[in-house]
Amino acid sequence: MIKLENVSKTYYMGGEPINALSGINLVVEEGEMVAVVGPSGSGKSTLLHIIGGLDSPTSGEVTINGQKLSNSSDTELAHYRNRSVGFVFQTFNLHPTYNALENVAMPLIFSKVPRTERLKRASEVLETMGLSKRSSHLPNQLSGGERQRVCIARALVTKPKLILADEPTGNLDSKTGDLIIKLLQQLNREMGITLLLVTHNTDIAEEAPRTLFMRDGQIAKERKL
Ligand SMILES: Nc1ncnc2c1ncn2[C@@H]1O[C@H](COP(=O)(O)OP(=O)(O)OP(=O)(O)O)[C@@H](O)[C@H]1O
Ligand SMILES: [Mg+2]
Repeated sequence: MIKLENVSKTYYMGGEPINALSGINLVVEEGEMVAVVGPSGSGKSTLLHIIGGLDSPTSGEVTINGQKLSNSSDTELAHYRNRSVGFVFQTFNLHPTYNALENVAMPLIFSKVPRTERLKRASEVLETMGLSKRSSHLPNQLSGGERQRVCIARALVTKPKLILADEPTGNLDSKTGDLIIKLLQQLNREMGITLLLVTHNTDIAEEAPRTLFMRDGQIAKERKL
């Protein structure tokens, strides 16, 4: 479902090149769970951004379900980002003046789902995250773990086939973090959603069916159970 061929990404800072990714080759099949680990600056976030269509490679080709992202129009790319991918980041980028329900419903605005249907679907996903009673809370009226579950609910509301999670537990205590990881794993196992998970947690990396070890913009090592 995801194929990267010789993907490189170079940033230029004051004329100096930074090779964030160098010649990445990767195939991820539908339904896989892949942990991505590596030192700070090794290119993990860049890899996820490129797979999610948030950023484009300097060279090389990204193919999603047979479609080359470089051949996609802006509209097709926007649809892909909005409808096929769910993003979960380390920092909760929730809208501060919208409550939990409205935040979760937000991605459906772009898909032109009518408001009542949006709120209905958002409330269903919030329920599966165990957050029914927090629907009308604003982000700053939620705990860190609850906020992250709202983010996951928002990522899920469009029923994506792929979830890209970039250190989703980085800001949480270890117990809440474990819960969030369990939730993501459950989505992968029970709903067949492909999961790419950047993590610093060695336990998760060891238990994951497949782990990519990144170093200096390359996949230095790979392990499959
Ligand atoms: N927008 C940008 N402009 C310039 N350089 C960037 C940009 N984004 C990332 N980089 C550089 O690219 C390299 C890879 O960054 P990336 O964010 O992918 O690392 P990472 O593995 O996610 O690190 P961390 O574990 O700290 O999140 C780093 O050296 C970083 O400084
Ligand atoms: Mg990162």
